[in-house]
Amino acid sequence: MSFQALPGFRDFYPEEMALRRHVEAAWHAAAKAAGFEEVEGPPLESLELLKAKSGEAIVEELYAFTDKGGREVALRAELTPTVGRMIAARAAALRKPVKWYATPQLFRYQRQQRGRLREHIQWNVDIFGASEIGSDAELLAVALDALRRLGLTEKEVKVRVSHRGVMAERVRTRFGADAVESTLRLIDKGELTPAQAAELLVAFDVAAIPELDGLYAACEDLGVEGFLEFDPRIVRGLAYYTGLVWEIFDRGEKLRAVAGGGRYDMLIERLGGPQMPALGFGMGDVVLTELLRDTGKLPPGPPKIDVLVVPIGEEMLAPARQVVRRLRLAGERAEAPYSPMKVGKAFQLAESSGARRVVLVGPDEWRLGKVKVKDLRSREESVREVDKL
Ligand code: HAM
Repeated sequence: MSFQALPGFRDFYPEEMALRRHVEAAWHAAAKAAGFEEVEGPPLESLELLKAKSGEAIVEELYAFTDKGGREVALRAELTPTVGRMIAARAAALRKPVKWYATPQLFRYQRQQRGRLREHIQWNVDIFGASEIGSDAELLAVALDALRRLGLTEKEVKVRVSHRGVMAERVRTRFGADAVESTLRLIDKGELTPAQAAELLVAFDVAAIPELDGLYAACEDLGVEGFLEFDPRIVRGLAYYTGLVWEIFDRGEKLRAVAGGGRYDMLIERLGGPQMPALGFGMGDVVLTELLRDTGKLPPGPPKIDVLVVPIGEEMLAPARQVVRRLRLAGERAEAPYSPMKVGKAFQLAESSGARRVVLVGPDEWRLGKVKVKDLRSREESVREVDKL
């Protein structure tokens, strides 16, 4: 009998894991560079929280079950309800604005398609207690800074921005209050009829969104205004958004959204907290990795070790271990094979593991407290005292 990962779930073999860490490193660096603090919540939440506070589209995709204690629970499909719950619980004590980020694994029971799996890692960056346009611009700049660190610039990506609140009002005045949610969902899915599209999208006046001017100006200060593109089709699928909303796409629009977010000024209050403005975005690893692959920005595999220590003969196994220990204490990444190795084979191994140096531990030198060191870049070889490695 053989087993495979469940459909939509991934195994991370070393190459995939290294790529995931490469992406996550850019996320951490960009968030930290802008003064965001890292948080985390539980992977399992009460079904009630996720049902009430997630976007409706997400509720249909919950992995929900009854646990052994009879509780209705679900795997988190997004982090926003959890972070909102955490903020609502401590709202009074936290110094505003609160700037948080996290990199949770999320679960959505979705039909599998390119860029959409049943599990993904999503960078979440959120600001609470700020209503100024500078916070919207900073959020965008942080998202784009992570992409820049991965090699993606204005040439590869763009931000499509609009305003869910303004569009909702437009729908309400034309089609009535009852039609707002369903129509916004049609806009999000790109499923408006031509007549609806003509009414809502084609005739849309940018001047209806006063925040846009401020956003463009603040984004100019932050050097990211060139990414922005107004697009009334952006309303976001999740019902909690209230204001400016945006999504990041590849310029060629071949892939699904790399990231999406916006303002959700009502959620904290709905979670039992005080009235508190909020904004944030999520950026998933799946589409982002595809984009890096498509644009040739995948990094070379990182070197596994700095130094390979080679025992020449059975009796050199113990000395090699001692050399390894010494190198590791000195902060180098070092390893030695568990059995003696021929020199030729050792150099092949060093090459494939990315080592910069090979230390040959042979009986003649070891007796004198020495080892042979070969630098693989300069090709220089020297006999060195073990104490001075
Ligand atoms: P979202 O648009 O549902 O927003 O997801 C954000 C990003 O996560 C998407 O643009 C996509 O890159 C990635 N993503 C979503 N679902 C999947 C999937 N099934 N497979 C792979 N990648 C996926 C939210 O989740 C909001 N809670 C973001 C947010 C945070 N808003 C405010 N703060």
